[in-house]
Amino acid sequence: MTRFHFDCDPGHDDAVALLVAAKLLDLTGVSTVFGNSNITNTTRNALAILEAADLSIPVAKGIGKPLVDNAINAESVHGKSGLDGANLPPPATKPLSISGPELIINTARQEDDLKVIAVAPLTNIATAIVDAPDIRDRIREISIMGGSTTFGNATPAAEFNIHADPEAAAIVFNSGIPIRMVGLNVTTTFGITVTQVQSLLATSGKLARAIGGALDFYLNKQQSLYRREYAPVHDVCAVAPYTHPALIRHENMHVDVECTGKLTRGQTVCDQRRLSAAEGLAPPKASNAAVAVQADGKSIIDLVMNTLQSYP
Ligand code: RIB
Ligand code: CA
Repeated sequence: MTRFHFDCDPGHDDAVALLVAAKLLDLTGVSTVFGNSNITNTTRNALAILEAADLSIPVAKGIGKPLVDNAINAESVHGKSGLDGANLPPPATKPLSISGPELIINTARQEDDLKVIAVAPLTNIATAIVDAPDIRDRIREISIMGGSTTFGNATPAAEFNIHADPEAAAIVFNSGIPIRMVGLNVTTTFGITVTQVQSLLATSGKLARAIGGALDFYLNKQQSLYRREYAPVHDVCAVAPYTHPALIRHENMHVDVECTGKLTRGQTVCDQRRLSAAEGLAPPKASNAAVAVQADGKSIIDLVMNTLQSYP
């Protein structure tokens, strides 16, 4: 039976993805990392979400800065707390005494059929791989929300999770562990609308109302920052391949991470040329990733709404 480790930086769409994963998959544990907000906030938010959902899943606090640069954040989108609008009570539960990378290492060595869902900067995952190279043969697949086959959001070329720690992303994509990647080219094509936010706010379930409050804040930011009339639920697209595999189509290709480009640092360079080995100035490298190219957005949103409303 496949079990899953969940690495996140909650974060509004992380919260949605975590609640869907916890309801539909067998989660071994959660690790937090800097990203949407600082590590203190993302760890508190993860604990608060699980407590509000009455889920007893262990949480390990991960790394608070990238391997090379200084930490960035996305508080312009997620607010000062990282989960503005949720108004969840401060959690009573505490994180484990071990770090996020240590939890990943221990879990990989204990579980015989482990996959990792990574919906944040890849610092914890990369650190675990560097500290314990043996886990490369233990982790069956890493499902990453990150990157893009086209445009970025943090910069014109780079998506936030990759841009936040390009060196970590390069380690993960070149680790030899099979990668499943969903990028902005797919995750920005659909999202939660104001009607769905209002529906969540009117739900009898306390958790759904809290997440509705969070998504109300997040949607307003999408409207003001990106002039979008829906709130992309980026991270659940890294969960859906395991709960509803027919909803997202992937293509195998080589992906690497640009770490030195002045304009392109943090870009996922996806080889979509479909060349035979003999052609091309730069012959294609062997595929290392199944990359999302199309999704049934309406069905994914239905999955999100039904799951959130199934919580008490
Ligand atoms: O670019 C979108 C990604 O960055 C999502 O994971 C979101 O939560 C933020 O971390
Ligand atoms: Ca995230």
